[in-house]
Amino acid sequence: MAIRLPPLNPGHLLALLISIVTTLAIAHLPHAHHDTYHSYDPPQDIQSLKASLSPTAQLLLPNDPAFKTHLNHRWSTNPLNTPSPSLILLATTESDISHAIRYANAHNVPFLATAGGHGTNAFLSDFNGGVLISLRNLTKFEPSPHGRTAIVGGGLLSQQVVERLWQEGKETTTGLCGCVSYSGPAMGGGHGFLQGRYGLVADQVVSVRVVLANGEVVVASEEENGDLFWALRGAGHNFGVVTEFTVRIHDVEEARRNWVWEQFIFEGERLEEVYTLANEMMEYQPVEMVSWSVWRMVEDVDPGKPSIVVIVFFNGPLEDSREYTQPIHNLGPAAYAFKVTEYPGLNAVLGVDLSGSECQPQGTALLRAADVDRYEIIALRNWFETFGKMLATEEGLAKSVCILEGYGVQGVQAVPSDSTAFPHRDKRLLLAPSVQYDIVGNSTLDREAERWSKAMEKAAFGSAQRRTYVNYASGDESLQAMYGYEPWRLQRLRALKRKYDPENRFRFFAPIVRDDRS
Ligand SMILES: Cc1cc2nc3c(=O)[nH]c(=O)nc-3n(C[C@H](O)[C@H](O)[C@H](O)COP(=O)(O)OP(=O)(O)OC[C@H]3O[C@@H](n4cnc5c(N)ncnc54)[C@H](O)[C@@H]3O)c2cc1C
Ligand SMILES: *[C@@H]1O[C@H](CO)[C@@H](O)[C@H](O)[C@H]1NC(C)=O
Ligand SMILES: *[C@@H]1O[C@H](CO)[C@@H](O)[C@H](O)[C@H]1NC(C)=O
Repeated sequence: MAIRLPPLNPGHLLALLISIVTTLAIAHLPHAHHDTYHSYDPPQDIQSLKASLSPTAQLLLPNDPAFKTHLNHRWSTNPLNTPSPSLILLATTESDISHAIRYANAHNVPFLATAGGHGTNAFLSDFNGGVLISLRNLTKFEPSPHGRTAIVGGGLLSQQVVERLWQEGKETTTGLCGCVSYSGPAMGGGHGFLQGRYGLVADQVVSVRVVLANGEVVVASEEENGDLFWALRGAGHNFGVVTEFTVRIHDVEEARRNWVWEQFIFEGERLEEVYTLANEMMEYQPVEMVSWSVWRMVEDVDPGKPSIVVIVFFNGPLEDSREYTQPIHNLGPAAYAFKVTEYPGLNAVLGVDLSGSECQPQGTALLRAADVDRYEIIALRNWFETFGKMLATEEGLAKSVCILEGYGVQGVQAVPSDSTAFPHRDKRLLLAPSVQYDIVGNSTLDREAERWSKAMEKAAFGSAQRRTYVNYASGDESLQAMYGYEPWRLQRLRALKRKYDPENRFRFFAPIVRDDRS
């Protein structure tokens, strides 16, 4: 049943690519509209808010059709991780945000910023009634005349940043998925394909403009409000609304315009061989390389069971990539494909570009992750079997995937661990079970989805201490697991919360202070 293609056969490539990319992108099922939002009375005195806003700002009330469209335009509309506002502000200026925050505080209703709509933290569902502040219209993009930095608006999506920089012959670390915002990842550290070379998304940030919990606007950088700047890079969701980032940008060298994508599919029974090799290869993973695998159904390879789809990305010539991946070829995959593209085209190869299926409104999802040092083979087997069992038991969860992300770490580890609030610089792998489904309103299925999601996360950790990248955190992690086990980290974060957000207004995404959870 296994398809075995000769490597580098361009004739087969297209057909295989299309089939792989479309399945990887997960067949786009009709989007189940989420009708379970509670209907909250809009806060009082909206006219006064309206009067304070810029002429291009828009306020949406629950009876406005655009209100629901906007809310549903999220990656997950799972009631377990979706906010339910009573008012949406499409802000166009920093002062709109400032006024909205002052208004919310004066009327004692909560507020929450949103950018790309990919957040899946369970605390988002504690946001009931209040002002959702969309940053999507904050789209400033301004490279500096000296070409070493650019201003990136808080509402730009990753793909927009990548494309606009590319036009200038520049690049910086961003997330891969085109429709995830630039900001969202940055607030939690931010993993991206260029992190091996440059460091995390947040490591590129040299200063930000941020609206604080009381509506005041300040600049944060090493020189100005350095303590806030430290917290914003790793625990940012807890401290302010960033309206713009000034970020380092880098010249794209001619030899590095291209990225190679090589994909190898293995039957599940080969897991031990695949990850024993992956552990060996990790020891010499070059800065140009990102090494992922995705577990999902590939009917042609192993009907009825998930397969292991190994994906290696290489920033440079195909020959160099193949030199590194030769040992994977030698294992004899059931299927192989490759593609070469310039950097801005890379997300389309995975179906995660703005027009790709992953960027259309999805169904519901539960994301979890384990940040670990290496592939623990027995744990992976256990996780893989759990995933297979889930797929065999729950037809409704068939579009779920598990993603094992091995980014470059050189640039990340070059930054001192104590210099930002991101605590996981020594972790090399991000293991992420993503339970996805479209059926809404079946509470049995919801419970089963949650149960399998937890079981897979537990298995993925194996014997490792629980540590989770805050932007993938589900909501039931300890503060230490997200913000670090060194006692000084939480002490410092708590002290900064008292200083910058004493009323704990920023509490709907991986909150540091939880005692007033509503
Ligand atoms: C398909 C997919 C791909 C992903 N790819 C990556 C990746 O490549 N790299 C990576 O690191 N992470 C990635 N993530 C995780 C991602 O970092 C989080 O989902 C993040 O919260 C998404 O931000 P958003 O703006 O798109 O979502 P939103 O739901 O709009 O924002 C999430 C939260 O972030 C906060 N926030 C966002 N912007 C601001 C701002 N400007 N100021 C203050 N607070 C803000 C708010 O608290 C908000 O509730 C991915 C997630 C998914 C689902
Ligand atoms: C703001 O965003 C909304 C929704 O994305 C869009 O319809 C509107 O035209 C934007 N407004 C401005 C002023 O850019
Ligand atoms: C709800 O989901 C459960 C678990 O998958 C399934 O057994 C049941 O038939 C579903 N109920 C309805 C009404 O679809």
